[in-house]
Amino acid sequence: MEYSRAATATVLVVLALVSQAQAGVWPRSRPYNIAHRGASGFRPDHTAEGYQLAIDLGADFIECDVVLTKDLVPVCRHEPLVSGTTDADAKFPNLIKSIIIDGANYTGVFTTDLTLAEVKTLRCKQPIADRDQSFNGLFAIPTLEEYIAIAKRANRTIGIYPETKHPTWHDSLPIVKAAQTTMSDIVLNVLKKHGYKGPINSKAWSKQPVFIQSFEVGNLKYLSRKTCIPLVQLLSDWNTPIPDMPALNYSSIMSEAGVKDMATYASGVGPWKNTLVRAKAGANVTANGAALESTGLAERIRKNGMQAHPYTFRNEARYLTYGAFATAMDEFEFFFVKLGLEGAFTDYTGSLRQYFTMKSQEQGRLWNTGAVINRAGRPKPHNPKC
Ligand SMILES: *[C@@H]1O[C@H](CO)[C@@H](O)[C@H](O)[C@H]1NC(C)=O
Ligand SMILES: *[C@@H]1O[C@H](CO)[C@@H](O)[C@H](O)[C@H]1NC(C)=O
Ligand SMILES: *[C@@H]1O[C@H](CO)[C@@H](O)[C@H](O)[C@H]1NC(C)=O
Ligand SMILES: *[C@@H]1O[C@H](CO)[C@@H](O)[C@H](O)[C@H]1NC(C)=O
Repeated sequence: MEYSRAATATVLVVLALVSQAQAGVWPRSRPYNIAHRGASGFRPDHTAEGYQLAIDLGADFIECDVVLTKDLVPVCRHEPLVSGTTDADAKFPNLIKSIIIDGANYTGVFTTDLTLAEVKTLRCKQPIADRDQSFNGLFAIPTLEEYIAIAKRANRTIGIYPETKHPTWHDSLPIVKAAQTTMSDIVLNVLKKHGYKGPINSKAWSKQPVFIQSFEVGNLKYLSRKTCIPLVQLLSDWNTPIPDMPALNYSSIMSEAGVKDMATYASGVGPWKNTLVRAKAGANVTANGAALESTGLAERIRKNGMQAHPYTFRNEARYLTYGAFATAMDEFEFFFVKLGLEGAFTDYTGSLRQYFTMKSQEQGRLWNTGAVINRAGRPKPHNPKC
């Protein structure tokens, strides 16, 4: 009797959650489906057409990596270097040069040497050789504002997830210094203009969901003092130097103390998925999912009240973590069920949606675990105004 009443209550709660998820109520009661660079499995990265396809395939968030043009307009592109993702080398051969950005030597054409009008003449291409090349040469680079317009005109709530790319490097450029501003302020002003505000899971946030992400620490701390918009600290591999603190590597902020400090300015963490799992003692990491265990990072993130949104889930076999999974569905199952994530970046939004749909029809569904945090995520404690 007691059992069946409890079971009935559980079923009702679960049905309510399912219908909320289907009705598009925010914050979500299941993990977020974050469309990495748009529908980048099917269309050139960071294009209006790719973002729209990602929405049609079931994204909760679309992602824009923000870089600046010479006239300081924020646009969506993976890097300031656009040679690999556009026809820039053919159109602006006189602008090809080499620049060191965060220790890496890049050669080609950079958005920071092109005005917005010049950027708009470029046409995008698919940078991954075995993905569909038939859309090359067709689509333009969208501005941050055009990307926001795509999210806003969708017929359900679509979140945005802009990343400030190389903010310290951008801020060091004479064009940015002369304008007496910073990349963070340029991006923040655009978000403000379009009504983005409020801490995670607030009413205002749930109407226009947004996370600002960065691999740097300093600009997120700066932003945390200027805005209530939730911030996401991206993490690279353990031994990779932090771009704005090159004497330190990411392992220094992935420790107990590091993650605790992160929670004073960030609401979420975007780790590289390979840092969340490792081989069990004596096991062969490439063998299969059963050989993997948590590194403890996901648990540390959750314990400190933050969400974990790892990157990047891709269907192609070569991208499955440590070659340990037979299919992308097996990989999702391991990460969402074992680690209880609150979201994930994927190039294949449709596959992640398919996985969520499958889980929603199962007993003991995944959002009984980590994704509950999507509803309980707390405002940042350091900023009393939020
Ligand atoms: C919402 O828009 C999509 C296109 O993005 C369309 O396929 C779908 O039918 C629309 N749904 C409603 C309820 O209007
Ligand atoms: C960067 O790469 C270019 C092209 O390969 C090369 O000419 C240049 O010397 C490199 N710069 C540095 C500092 O290594
Ligand atoms: C990364 O930082 C840790 C802790 O400070 C240190 O032990 C390790 O040697 C560093 N790795 C590299 C490649 O610098
Ligand atoms: C681990 O497993 C892979 C795939 O089965 C195999 O190719 C590799 O040789 C194994 N490595 C070791 C050290 O056993």
